[in-house]
Amino acid sequence: KVTTEQHRPQFHFTPPSKWMNDPNGMVYHKGEYHLFYQHHPGSTTWGPMHWGHAVSKDMVNWEHLPIALYPDELGTIFSGSAVVDVNNTSGLGTKENPAMVAIYTYHSEKLEKAGRNDFQTQGMAYSLDNGRTWKKYEQNPVVKNPGIRDFRDPKVSWNEKAGQWVMTLAVLDHIEFYGSKNLKDWTKLSEFGKTAAAHGGVWECPDLFPLTVNGQLKYVLLVSLNPGGPNKGSATQYFIGDFDGKTFKSDNPLETTFWLDYGTDNYAGVTWDNVPKSDGRRLFLGWMSNWLYANEVPTASWRSATTVPRELTLRQTSEGVRLFSAPVKELQKLRAGTTFVKAQEVSGTLDLSNRYNLNSPLLELDLNLDVAQAQNVVLRFSNNKGEHLEVGYNPAQKELFIDRTKAGKTDFKDTFPGRHTAPLTLENGKLRLHLLLDVASIEVFANEGKTVMTDIFFPNEDFTKVELVSTGTTRLLDSKVYKLKPASG
Ligand code: FRU
Repeated sequence: KVTTEQHRPQFHFTPPSKWMNDPNGMVYHKGEYHLFYQHHPGSTTWGPMHWGHAVSKDMVNWEHLPIALYPDELGTIFSGSAVVDVNNTSGLGTKENPAMVAIYTYHSEKLEKAGRNDFQTQGMAYSLDNGRTWKKYEQNPVVKNPGIRDFRDPKVSWNEKAGQWVMTLAVLDHIEFYGSKNLKDWTKLSEFGKTAAAHGGVWECPDLFPLTVNGQLKYVLLVSLNPGGPNKGSATQYFIGDFDGKTFKSDNPLETTFWLDYGTDNYAGVTWDNVPKSDGRRLFLGWMSNWLYANEVPTASWRSATTVPRELTLRQTSEGVRLFSAPVKELQKLRAGTTFVKAQEVSGTLDLSNRYNLNSPLLELDLNLDVAQAQNVVLRFSNNKGEHLEVGYNPAQKELFIDRTKAGKTDFKDTFPGRHTAPLTLENGKLRLHLLLDVASIEVFANEGKTVMTDIFFPNEDFTKVELVSTGTTRLLDSKVYKLKPASG
């Protein structure tokens, strides 16, 4: 994607034009990762929702396809998921050519305007040609609304324990699970979360999936909420626990809140279904924006990008089991060459761009730092206009931070500028910072991705200078830096 458009990301997925929000219908089928997305083809601001569509063989280079789902008489097409009905449980395909089935929320503006509360229902569409054309199921909706205004974002997957399809649905302030043998007839199984964790806003876009840790199968439940995030606005929390085929039970006390990402710009993310068992990864991607200002960000022909695809894993830490995120290995294809940074002590400023020929707004930095003798350590990305973005760690505060207050255009919305923080306790002062810088975003994976921060920004000129600024002494241990190439799509 080499474009001259200002602020257009170069290795993050963006719609060719107009508005995008949540990723939808993420499913792997016959060698392709499908990505659908909330799309308003008529404008660069949110409006009547369609499902935009793209496919990729590696989640990095994308091919744009025509709009997959258009609004119909039941409503506009809100967020949802897709599965491959391998055993033809729905009868919509055949065993030889199984249907791809999309399950989404219908949002009826007509019913909403009429003052009713039951305007969100769940509908279904299917494709028999690898997602190229879609047919709506004749008997929609498949899940009717019980009279609750927020009743949406079905994430469906085949559940081994239940021996049936399970739909995870966001219902105002909790999650509801539904079960089905055929994707058409759904029965409510249970509820979770009314009094658990963060409730600063409405619950949206959930996901439920198994992951193994310490040789044990656990279930992770992702729940996006808006507002109420750790740095304000939209954010995604997660729960770890057990799912017995019917009910989800968290391993942690009700008040515990875990955040998938502490940055302001990773929302409504879910994982790909049907990734081959031989691959075995749990692959995630989110919308890289925030409802606080998504409609106002200063881009011209399009609005919003996704995060990079990430692999999610559960790992044992000294604080307990946590969900870790890491950029997928396919992103390594973008590396234009590796530079090994020699071990050294930094007190004051080290100009990394000059020293290691990193004058590019597309960078991957993988830095191993010892900050035991430092009061503060900052990576400073800047341009010739005096604008800069800071990513740093403060050992006394035990805090990772991103400061975008001076990172270019900020006055399009008062909630945009800010310094965002995440708690991070180090062991023996060791800090690994793995970062991906694109034209308009930074993704920070600290300590193997235990703590993650994703923020967007809009400099008037690309950030092509990067410095390491240490107050006190920072020891730079084995580290690698890479210039990155643009991706296609
Ligand atoms: C989340 C969300 C979903 C909804 C969609 C509408 O960002 O509000 O809950 O389905 O966006 O575009």
